[in-house]
Amino acid sequence: MPKILFVNSDTEVEVAEGTTILEAALDNGIDIDNDCGANGVCGTCHVYIDCGIDRVSPKEGDEADLLETVDKLTDRSRLACQTRVLGDITVTIPK
Ligand code: FES
Repeated sequence: MPKILFVNSDTEVEVAEGTTILEAALDNGIDIDNDCGANGVCGTCHVYIDCGIDRVSPKEGDEADLLETVDKLTDRSRLACQTRVLGDITVTIPK
């Protein structure tokens, strides 16, 4: 099963492949803003995939457009509610 290291809380969790980063965080008591309830329309669940950007699901639908609206966008930016974990990754939650 894939592992996610959440850098901010120095917490590593193991999740079933296909779990979203947001589900993995909330299920393990790690807070990520999710103002739209994981519907992919608010952008508040913006995270950085520090390691393993090739081990998550590709951007689909409007994710790329919505990411253009977030602060401090990088090429490692993803929406936690839209990104499914396929292998071991490291995630930072922007302050
Ligand atoms: S929770 Fe709103 S876009 Fe992810």
